[in-house]
Amino acid sequence: MSFRCTFMELALFSIKLTIMATSVAAQAKPGCQIHCGNITIPYPFGTGSVECYINESFFIRCNTSFHPPRAFLTTTDIEVLHVSVDGYLRIRYPVGYDCYNSSGSSSYFNAGFTLGKFYISHTRNKFTAIGCDTYAYVEGFVGRTYSTGCVSFCYDEADVVNGSCFGIGCCQTDIPKGVTDYRLSFDSYWSHSKVLSFNPCSYGFAVEDGVYDFSLSHFLDHNFSKKKFPIIIDWTIGNESCREARMDPQNYACKENSACIVPENGGGYLCRCLHGFQGNPYLSHGCQDINECETLKPCSKICHNVVGSYSCSCPEGFDGDGRRTGTGCTPKAKQRFPIVAGTLGICISLLVSLLCCSWVYLGVRQRKLSKLKHHNFQQNGGILLREKLSEGEEYGATARIFTVDELKRATNNYHQSRILGQGGQGTVYKGILPDGRSVAIKKSIIGDQSQVQIFINEVIVLSQINHRNVVKLFGCCLEAQVPLLVYEYVRNGNLFDHLHCTDHASVIPWGARLKIATEAAEALSYLHSAAAPPIIHRDVKLTNILLDENYNAEVSDFGASRLVPSNKEHITTLVQGTLGYLDPEYFYTSQLTEKSDVYSFGVVLVELLTGLKAVSFDRPEHERNLSLYFDSVMQEERLLDIIDGRIVDDRNIEQLMEVATLARRCVRVKGEERPTMKEVSSELEGLRAMVKFRREEGDLYEVEFEELLHDF
Ligand SMILES: *[C@@H]1O[C@H](CO)[C@@H](O)[C@H](O)[C@H]1NC(C)=O
Ligand SMILES: *[C@@H]1O[C@H](CO)[C@@H](O)[C@H](O)[C@H]1NC(C)=O
Ligand SMILES: *[C@@H]1O[C@H](CO)[C@@H](O)[C@H](O)[C@H]1NC(C)=O
Ligand SMILES: *[C@@H]1O[C@H](CO)[C@@H](O)[C@H](O)[C@H]1NC(C)=O
Ligand SMILES: *[C@@H]1O[C@H](CO)[C@@H](O)[C@H](O)[C@H]1NC(C)=O
Ligand SMILES: *[C@@H]1O[C@H](CO)[C@@H](O)[C@H](O)[C@H]1NC(C)=O
Ligand SMILES: *[C@@H]1O[C@H](CO)[C@@H](O)[C@H](O)[C@H]1NC(C)=O
Repeated sequence: MSFRCTFMELALFSIKLTIMATSVAAQAKPGCQIHCGNITIPYPFGTGSVECYINESFFIRCNTSFHPPRAFLTTTDIEVLHVSVDGYLRIRYPVGYDCYNSSGSSSYFNAGFTLGKFYISHTRNKFTAIGCDTYAYVEGFVGRTYSTGCVSFCYDEADVVNGSCFGIGCCQTDIPKGVTDYRLSFDSYWSHSKVLSFNPCSYGFAVEDGVYDFSLSHFLDHNFSKKKFPIIIDWTIGNESCREARMDPQNYACKENSACIVPENGGGYLCRCLHGFQGNPYLSHGCQDINECETLKPCSKICHNVVGSYSCSCPEGFDGDGRRTGTGCTPKAKQRFPIVAGTLGICISLLVSLLCCSWVYLGVRQRKLSKLKHHNFQQNGGILLREKLSEGEEYGATARIFTVDELKRATNNYHQSRILGQGGQGTVYKGILPDGRSVAIKKSIIGDQSQVQIFINEVIVLSQINHRNVVKLFGCCLEAQVPLLVYEYVRNGNLFDHLHCTDHASVIPWGARLKIATEAAEALSYLHSAAAPPIIHRDVKLTNILLDENYNAEVSDFGASRLVPSNKEHITTLVQGTLGYLDPEYFYTSQLTEKSDVYSFGVVLVELLTGLKAVSFDRPEHERNLSLYFDSVMQEERLLDIIDGRIVDDRNIEQLMEVATLARRCVRVKGEERPTMKEVSSELEGLRAMVKFRREEGDLYEVEFEELLHDF
């Protein structure tokens, strides 16, 4: 049952981002001037008196002798064009040049500046040089002096490709990370003497990526040396890490409803409003609730905005999750159509005559069809299943066998619009049974008979389980060409989609992540210990954890599960599992124990903590060994750097640390060093007891964090 992010969702995501970016109100400190000319100066930057900016480095000098007035950075001559609360500034800076005439060097300007506390963005700028007898290089300081640059030589104007900067007449190079200091220098080999007719000057400049369009005409443009180009500067607060900053609440810059984030460039930290909020995180009451109902219009019928989030619902008589990107609201199955009596009469008589005519034909066909169904039933292991089910009845197995027609009706003949997801194992459709229950119907892909066993297995395993965090199996159908499984319908999709495919507005808060982890752990612990014989899931991963509207977790997809014989260890020849989640010990030894699920669950925990995808832990540098990676992260105290910045706030840090420690134990290389699922589940349960939740309109979010007093 794996669902993929759709292109639509991604497209929607980018649209939403733009909306959010443009609607964020930049604010200055109360009583401070917000504009300089047409430039807006949000806090922590400011102009005027010292209370208006956080530090001398954030002072903006507004020179009103220009019309309109111009803004400069602190006391420098660096002109500021834009100040963003998202951690960057756009400045404007002149080009450097080195010009010649027939008697030699004629003019030279080696542009450069020192930013002190800020950094030239290494991702959003390019160092660019133009000329045909040009060495241009920047020297900078990143703790040590460095230099980088580019070279361009050409001998004929005709060789220069007008309009594109790729090495002949124009070259570009990246600027390193962490540069606070920028000095331009030039050199030429023949003092431009060989190219003087069309290129008397070399020019060099840093410029915002994508802004400069090279043109051959710039070679002879005497005004080019007076040009200024925009450069993106990264700024951060202070020089301490988030953790250090939080320990000094007096000077901690992130205010209510905001989180501390690790900047991409340079030391220090940045603040960002929590999901569901927008505004200026550096001001108290700066982060304001977003009315998602207004800005995103995420619901098809009814939308409730709540602080930090929103929820969708459907009116009476409608079914669905109410989300426009979800199942929306569809009228309930039991519909009454208005009927016109006259038409009805005609229809009935027509139908009767049609029925009469086709009676004979259908009779013959029906017999053929039921023969085929019977064949499929046998092919699909119906006999085996029937046997197993009757055996299972002793254990209280409740699965029932559905007919082809029942399921065809339930899915509107497997209509395209009913597809919930498509994955390696088959397609999942939404169905509505005659009694009004919504179900998920999995149409398996079965290549050969060996996979019948997998299928039967899932039926047997699931029909014996009754746990609120395990997806319920209602039954199956074996008469169709491919076997069909009928499950309880879990409304809100899978955890993978929620974690990786959704937009900023619906980032799952930490409290909900912890709840999901706890419930999934409970389900696995139940499979391992409460069920007899124990069941090993073997494919624990985000896509196999389904969520309902209250973020209740249900573990699904038992196709790969194994009932472990009573000796508790079992050699399997076929190692199954998903890359990134696969227990390395099982991978090497093929020895399957409950601890393989513990490993995979540990990976799920890591994903919930970091927001990264499991496959990214499988890169060679981690050498299939998440455990070693974790050890090094913890030794270097870099744990906070890898945790998803969107869920960290100063109240849940310790809890995040504890879960990280637990995750690290789960992914130990040796199975025996890992805790049991039962231990994992009770540890998570204990941590959860410290978080209070409030539920409203089916939406769940964190309200407050209460630290209970421990007396051990
Ligand atoms: C400010 O005004 C100048 C000239 O009037 C214009 O070129 C520039 O685009 C304006 N900047 C903003 C941010 O509106
Ligand atoms: C404003 O700019 C003018 C012209 O460049 C300069 O003479 C003056 O000193 C500047 N004033 C301030 C306050 O920077
Ligand atoms: C070349 O430039 C220098 C310095 O600007 C100037 O003194 C000299 O007269 C110029 N020579 C010619 C031939 O233009
Ligand atoms: C180069 O392209 C620019 C516009 O991109 C044009 O104005 C200019 O005339 C072109 N020069 C040559 C020599 O083709
Ligand atoms: C350079 O600028 C001056 C005035 O600013 C203008 O008259 C002249 O045409 C410009 N030259 C070129 C080559 O664009
Ligand atoms: C302000 O500057 C002082 C020293 O000049 C530094 O210790 C402090 O961290 C700075 N604060 C911020 C918010 O940058
Ligand atoms: C931060 O800057 C202050 C001075 O502004 C310095 O004393 C301190 O050592 C710096 N801390 C770090 C971690 O670089």
